[in-house]
Parts: sequence; C-alpha cells; structure tokens
Amino acid sequence: MKATAVAPANIAFIKYWGRRDAKLRLPYNSSISMNLNACITTTTVEFSPCYHADEFMLLTQNKFIKSSLELKFNELEKERISAHLDRIRDLANIKDMSKVVTINNFPKSSGIASSASGFAALTLAATAAAGLDLSEKDLSILARFGSGSACRSVPDGFVEWLTGDSSETSFAYSLYRASYWDLRDVLVIIGSEPKKIPTSAGMDNVTTSPLWRVRLRALPQRILRIKEALKTKNFVLLGRIIEEDCLEMHRGMQTQDPPLFYWNDKTRKIMEAVYNWRKDGLAVYFTIDAGPNVHIICEGKDEQRVTGLAKTIKGVEAVISNKPAQGTRLTKEHLF
Ligand code: DP6
Repeated sequence: MKATAVAPANIAFIKYWGRRDAKLRLPYNSSISMNLNACITTTTVEFSPCYHADEFMLLTQNKFIKSSLELKFNELEKERISAHLDRIRDLANIKDMSKVVTINNFPKSSGIASSASGFAALTLAATAAAGLDLSEKDLSILARFGSGSACRSVPDGFVEWLTGDSSETSFAYSLYRASYWDLRDVLVIIGSEPKKIPTSAGMDNVTTSPLWRVRLRALPQRILRIKEALKTKNFVLLGRIIEEDCLEMHRGMQTQDPPLFYWNDKTRKIMEAVYNWRKDGLAVYFTIDAGPNVHIICEGKDEQRVTGLAKTIKGVEAVISNKPAQGTRLTKEHLF
C-alpha cells in the first residue's frame, strides 16, 4: 500500500482566478497552462494500520541547498491534505491512516504553484497506494478538489482545464504533448518567503472587483485566440495574450475588496526589463501568478540570452529555466 508519484508545477497562460463553486472548486473560466520540467514535486504515500494519524513530512531540495531541508506544513495545510486523503480513502473504501513524504525542488508558497504539483502528486500517489487505478480524466477531477490548478498538472505538456457545467465535466486534458513546441519558462525568483494571503482566501473575494465581469466577458474570445496561437505556433501572438491575461488578472486582484498586491519593486523592475529587451528585438513576455516572482516566456533558441540577462538583474535570488514537461506519473523510487 505504498506508491510514489512525480508531478510538475504548471504556469498558466490563461489564469484561473475565482470559483463559482468553492466546495467543488469549479472555476468561473477555463484556463490554459504549460507544465514545468524543472519545478517538480515527488510524493510517497503509504496507507497502513500501523499509523494512528496521517503523518506528513515536507522537504525542499534544490541545487542551492546541498542537503534537503525540512519545512513545516501549517495546520490549515495539514487539514487540507488530510481532507484530500479522506476523499481517496472513501473512494477506495479503506480506513487506514497514512504516512506522506513529499519533496519539492523549488521554494514553497512563492507564487510557484506548489499546490498544483503538490496535489497532483498526492492524488496519484495516494490513489495508487490505495489500490485505485483512475483514468487521467478522473485523476484530474480528483486533483481539482485538492487545488484547482493541480488538475492541470495531471495531463501532458500544454493543457486546458475546462470550466464544465458540473464536477464531472470540469477537468484538464492535453492540448499538445510536451514535445510539441520548444518554449521556455525562465522563472526569475526574487523572493521565496511564504506569501501572506493564501490563494484560496484571495480568490473568495474576486467578484468584488469591478473588473471581474469585464475579464469574464473577454475570456472566451481570448481563449480562442491563444488556441490559435498555439496551433499556428505564433509566438508573438501567444506572448501578447499571456501578458494581457496576467495584467488583467492582477488588475482584478488589486481592485478586489480587500485588495491584493503580489508584486514588489523587484517584480516591477523585471517587468520593465522585459519590455526593454523586447524593444531591443528579443521575443520575451512575462507572466506572474500569486506571488512576486516573474516567469519569462521565450522560445528555446533564446534561452541562453534570456537566462543570462535575468541573472544580471540586481536582487535576483535564482533563475530556473523550464521546458514543457510531461504530466504526473508513477515512479518506483520511493522516498521512504
Ligand atoms: C494565480 O490553484 O493555487 O496561480 O484552487 O485555491 O488551490 P486553489 O488555487 P490555486 O490558484 C492558482 C491561481 C493562479 C493562477 C493559475 O495558476 O491559473
């Protein structure tokens, strides 16, 4: 009753911000993302009568930290993980408690979707450990209950999460395999402090922004345009839409009640740098999630130049270059 899964984080090109049903985690709009091959969560789950309560251990490891470092889940996070394990126990009709060990190779709660890769890995590892063999669609639906964006880390490569009109129809599927387009997400880390307002809480107030309706009305057309950009591999069109959607989501966050400000001075400096590099002829676009770090999207041929330039910006802690990645999968390399 032990299994291990590996899941990538993902970067949303069209963002998910707001839920029409918080309990079922059904989003107001469909979203589109790319899986990230260098931001990975690995999770081992074991169910056993030996455990009297669910036990969790969270580690972080990357090339900047030589040995792995133990981090603590807070009480809310533990409840959220246990609730997810309960869903899986109910499905598998088992009562055993579990031991969960999870390792991220990137900082937690810094606007890199650790909840996406975290709940995707947990869903696959726990269902397999419980003896369930779910389809990709059912895994995606189940991961969605843990964290909305986690459903997008399940399928391969470039992914769409459909709004759907029910829980069964709100799942993610692969638009294109990871090898379809040699893009990069050059992730510029400027702060790895845990964020003050969790995404889930921030999202509850989305409808208080006067811009929320404007965004909802614009999205169907924007989704058609980005799909066309992906289909025709039109990078300039893709980049423009990615930036447009990011700025619109943040304007919405900033005009919610109470407002949410995820950017800091370094974030703004990098956004400005991206505009300047573009003026100089480099095809680069940025996008930012619920944190200060900036994801710079470029084509594979420009990776060296972009990472080189990003590293020269003062205050940058780390630069992680991501290729499109395959989705969540099982591995035999258990963490305990
Ligand atoms: C800004 O998936 O973390 O990164 O469903 O509450 O877990 P929960 O939210 P989460 O939200 C991600 C929001 C975002 C945009 C995106 O990834 O689409």
